[in-house]
Amino acid sequence: MMMRMRLNRSIAFTAILLAFAAPAAAQTQLRVESPNGRTVVTVEVREGGLYYSIQRDNRAIFLPSRLGFEFQGAPPLRDNLRITGSTTRTVDTVWTQPWGEVARVRDHHNERRISVSEESPGGRQLVVVFRVFNDGVGFRYELPEQSGLGEFAIMQELTEFALADDARAWWIPSNRPRLDRSEMLYSSSPVSVVDSVQTPLTMETRDRRTFIVIHEANLVDYARMFLAGRGMESRTLRAALAPWADGIKVRGRTPFVTPWRTIQLADRATELAPSVLGLNLNPPSALASTDWITPMKYVGIWWGMHINTMTWSSGPKHGATTENTKRYIDFAAANGLGGVLVEGWNVGWDGDWIANRNAFSFTQPYPDYNLPELAAYANAKGVKLIAHNETSGGIENYERQMDSAFALYRSLGINAIKSGYVTDTLGGGHSHYSQYAVRHHRKVIETAARYGIMLDVHEPIHDTGERRTWPNMMTREGARGQEYNAWGGEGGNPPEHETILFFTRLLAGPMDFTPGVFDILYERSTGRARRPEESRVRTTLAKQLALYLVLYSPMHMAADLPENYANQPAFQFIRDVAVDWDTTRVIDGRIGDYVVLARKARGSPEWFVGAITDEEARTFTVPLSFLPRGRSYVAEIYADGPNAHWLTNPLPVAITRRPVTSASTLRLVLAPGGGQAIRLRPAR
Ligand code: NOJ
Ligand code: CA
Repeated sequence: MMMRMRLNRSIAFTAILLAFAAPAAAQTQLRVESPNGRTVVTVEVREGGLYYSIQRDNRAIFLPSRLGFEFQGAPPLRDNLRITGSTTRTVDTVWTQPWGEVARVRDHHNERRISVSEESPGGRQLVVVFRVFNDGVGFRYELPEQSGLGEFAIMQELTEFALADDARAWWIPSNRPRLDRSEMLYSSSPVSVVDSVQTPLTMETRDRRTFIVIHEANLVDYARMFLAGRGMESRTLRAALAPWADGIKVRGRTPFVTPWRTIQLADRATELAPSVLGLNLNPPSALASTDWITPMKYVGIWWGMHINTMTWSSGPKHGATTENTKRYIDFAAANGLGGVLVEGWNVGWDGDWIANRNAFSFTQPYPDYNLPELAAYANAKGVKLIAHNETSGGIENYERQMDSAFALYRSLGINAIKSGYVTDTLGGGHSHYSQYAVRHHRKVIETAARYGIMLDVHEPIHDTGERRTWPNMMTREGARGQEYNAWGGEGGNPPEHETILFFTRLLAGPMDFTPGVFDILYERSTGRARRPEESRVRTTLAKQLALYLVLYSPMHMAADLPENYANQPAFQFIRDVAVDWDTTRVIDGRIGDYVVLARKARGSPEWFVGAITDEEARTFTVPLSFLPRGRSYVAEIYADGPNAHWLTNPLPVAITRRPVTSASTLRLVLAPGGGQAIRLRPAR
């Protein structure tokens, strides 16, 4: 019986592949529709140029937008083009993530591969592939092997995104002298005044009927894509690629494929997450076994450096000592947290560690840090050390040591690394986001996989869905995290920050935000904050708990000093919260204002509800209809306490319990800058 059911299900979900060759005659206009027919992509040649446009429900979303390339030392592939043929197919399949925001992902799309050639004799060839899903569109270029195009250097990708509406965009810039590795605050404006911005770029049309997110998927051997405005209040954005030091954007040789350019489409903001469009455009897992990959919560010798109670460098305040690390391991073991991150354990931090990037050793500990002893101590307690590898952007220094370092970690039972790339320009003067950097990051992921190592990357290349192919690529930073509350200017992170992150950066993939600071005002810290007049966290304590649910990460930190969790009943929530999910449902949300969601823990009957708000107090009514019917649950509620307010009174948390069922409705009252976190567990 079981067998039959499983068999039927797998038949139902088996991919249906249909391929049709188009008639040989040249065509000037081709269409591809989403499976539900609502989204239609048209690809056409206009005056020799190749364009695509997108309609949804018969409304233009993207007007005809150019496709093509400019090369160094060769004419652009842009003019006198002709569509020479196309093939189509339909895919409908379901695959399972080893970990994630949702366990099962449906990949249902219509694909059209369009062959294009220059009209001239011996003209060069290009293939453009469009995949149209119900939740959006992906397209990429393929440059087939051909006599007229072998080795090439792309100076510009001409891909345009000509928005039909002057939609409101939430963005961070990509053309400032300091890029801060994507760690800026978000701005919001009509797309027509955007000059150069990073993706994911989330937009809402003025009639509020459509949400549009431009991003990319499967970035393997190419430059990261930014989006540049065309000036003159144009609504057209163009791909802008991060350069090598010599200004070339992409070096390659045919046959060659680009990353997918992705356009997610939704009727409501709440339908944007969890976003699986990019995952569906990445190849399936390359790993034979993923049993060793385990989502986890962790603590770290970390926050102390940011609030100046400890140092990375050697000396009297050195954080990474054997004794201190044992204390953190004991704390993790006592509280069921899986990992202990240790920063400043390795030689190289003394002096200007950003300028002295080549001084870092990734194998040699400081003398007061007994690495083998600590790894064994952790293993004996069921806890794992997380090795920190700050490179300061010294990619060459890191690559030289990578194999020996990873082999050492593996021999000690260390199966996770947090890496870092603090600098805007890499060794050799290449952009932090150049093809050079992209190649490096792929190499790290693949090498780490070979050594059985999971990755948490700070100052990374943005997430383009690598985790589908390489599930050891767990989480990354690539946005402004909690650390800015320790030392960031502009008042750290304002209360609305995370309500924007959820609808922008987090659509790309998990983020190591590092929530869980309980000493919101640093009252208990003995160090001196670097900006004493400004340094504090701009949320309530309950919101710190809710961030574990709202900002998804398979590795979530309990960021504060262990002593700040002592005698704090609210810490129980961090002990209990899951980091891997079967299902995620966004219940309510508005970009920059609030988020309310529910997630079901992977392989467990427990559900969690999280809600966060900006500087405004808000009340939400949440029916628990997602719970299984007829089963009694207990809601463990961590709410903003009486008169809580992020500015004046951030600490009160009201912890209550009540019996609930799928027929119950909860009323969530959030303070200004507040939040609420709820665990729903079956009644015993
Ligand atoms: C910046 C990272 O985001 C932070 O987590 C780390 O502690 C420092 N760099 C030092 O590597
Ligand atoms: Ca950072």
